[in-house]
Amino acid sequence: MHSPVIAASILSADMSKLGEDTRTVLEAGADFIHVDVMDNHYVPNLTFGPIIVKALRDFGITSTLDVHLMIKPVDRIIPEFAKAGADYITFHPEASENVENTLNLIRECKCKPGLVFNPTTSLDILEHTLDKIDIVLLMSVNPGFGGQSFIESVFDKLKIARKIIDESKYDIRLEIDGGVKVDNIRKIAEAGADTFVAGSAIFGAEDYKSTIKMMREQIALAKN
Ligand code: DX5
Ligand code: ZN
Repeated sequence: MHSPVIAASILSADMSKLGEDTRTVLEAGADFIHVDVMDNHYVPNLTFGPIIVKALRDFGITSTLDVHLMIKPVDRIIPEFAKAGADYITFHPEASENVENTLNLIRECKCKPGLVFNPTTSLDILEHTLDKIDIVLLMSVNPGFGGQSFIESVFDKLKIARKIIDESKYDIRLEIDGGVKVDNIRKIAEAGADTFVAGSAIFGAEDYKSTIKMMREQIALAKN
């Protein structure tokens, strides 16, 4: 299992000072920055394009940028996100015409590819793609908005994904996204996640640093 990573989702950051808020959350202890790309087509919301990723890099953000594409189609814009400075690029398999081609394209662009599974999407495709991915992202809310509640059935799905990854010979992160809070992160870690996206729980808190610290303490208490 990988060392735990907290990925702060800037969907809940202060958009009027995105660069500063991103820097602040990193100084407060976040490991990755999670960038939710929404297109008002695959999901009913509209957010960041490659120019925002580039702007964060130009502002001096050097941390890992975890770009979560909730867009359809996906392929055309992937090279632009790579060029702008993305590290991980994940997408929803149902939004791609050919999942293998899209994974290969991300790899050719020198980024780390990953698949995202909605709460009701089957993991069947996972076993056919284990050799091509660096990360699996399980959604624990339906994608589109921050601030939703964690869907309980995803605990069992996390355990299944953990088992599939552990039984493979591949080095793959297991990420969870949606409704992650201080009071459920331990249980999420126990179900097998190692990469924790949190938006409203961090950016909605008075003190980012103490929130991230409490999250890490809870993860450390997890019994696997
Ligand atoms: C939802 C996004 C999430 C979102 C999570 O579609 O993919 O990354 O920012 O927000 P919280 O942590 O508030 O549930
Ligand atoms: Zn996300």
